[in-house]
Amino acid sequence: MKKILITGATGQIGSELTPVLRKKFGSENVIAVGHKRKPGREILETGPYSSVDIRDKQALQRLVTDHDVDTVFHLVSLLSAVAEEQPQRAWDINMNGLSNILEISREYHCALFFPSSIAAFGPLTPPDNTPQDTIQHPNTIYGITKVSGELLCDYYHRRFGVDTRSVRFPGLISHKVLPGGGTTDYAVHIFYHALKDNHYTCFLRSDTQLDMMYMPDAIQAAIQLMESDREGLIHRNGYNITAMSFAPAQLAEEIKKHIPDFTISYTVDPVRQAIADSWPRHMDDRSARKEWQWAPQYTLAAMVEDMLDKLSHRIKAS
Ligand SMILES: NC(=O)c1ccc[n+]([C@@H]2O[C@H](COP(=O)([O-])OP(=O)(O)OC[C@H]3O[C@@H](n4cnc5c(N)ncnc54)[C@H](O)[C@@H]3O)[C@@H](O)[C@H]2O)c1
Repeated sequence: MKKILITGATGQIGSELTPVLRKKFGSENVIAVGHKRKPGREILETGPYSSVDIRDKQALQRLVTDHDVDTVFHLVSLLSAVAEEQPQRAWDINMNGLSNILEISREYHCALFFPSSIAAFGPLTPPDNTPQDTIQHPNTIYGITKVSGELLCDYYHRRFGVDTRSVRFPGLISHKVLPGGGTTDYAVHIFYHALKDNHYTCFLRSDTQLDMMYMPDAIQAAIQLMESDREGLIHRNGYNITAMSFAPAQLAEEIKKHIPDFTISYTVDPVRQAIADSWPRHMDDRSARKEWQWAPQYTLAAMVEDMLDKLSHRIKAS
């Protein structure tokens, strides 16, 4: 990795991955690509930034050749809840966007990171200790684009030798940028409401257990996978990775340890509840641990403590 292009750089993951990669590889060597969503100063003022629609292959090609890019982190996607509202647009952006990036990676010999998701599983998948290799039959358009993406990445590796690598991220919790319309967004919103109002109304049922991860671990996973020796990678596309697994009621209990007056109530959104009910409760991530030494740092308790600390400073400063 010498010259890196990040698509979706202004999103929840990109806005944290970009500064970490710029610090590690040099600001000028990390090209951030956004679209419509306004980038924060940290991204705009610390290195190259371009606004490009992911469906504009020629503009992407120009960026890759102008900057001599050798690695792409492709983060653009419509997320689960948003995609369900606009399935055809989700297919267009998620699949045609990935297809453009794969073709460019093939033509210009770039390595490619693609973030898949727990959404790549479905109601027929074993929900507990979900194996690395198991039934993938999602019933959401987002999940369908994620399985298709994993398969397409594998195909480009096998057929054309493109160095594609991907993980199945669980719900990600972070404090820099609000999440972009996923089913696990409650696990971020709850912190803002706990600090501002002492109360949160959750859109998932209290016992909806799902895999989760704190953003520093997610950033570490993406970089670590891309830096791993290719010889060790057996699965390559779609590594299960998780750090913790909890339900809204457990997260609320952990927050109460810091904010004793905090209360939670539930007004279930049937669309997002159905999506969550189709996802695994807890994935088996031993393949990632074995093949590229995946090892998360943050437990539920450590994540909650850090989130409350960082977010309370951010809210006070704003
Ligand atoms: N955040 C999570 O909890 C989570 C979990 C599993 C997988 N993922 C995956 O990780 C990746 C990044 O997720 P995120 O949470 O940062 O998403 P996000 O919604 O916060 O960011 C996605 C970015 O894509 C950009 N985008 C949308 N349409 C575009 C278009 N037509 N052209 C160019 N850019 C466009 C948006 O501007 C946005 O900044 C996605 O592939 C997502 O599926 C995220």
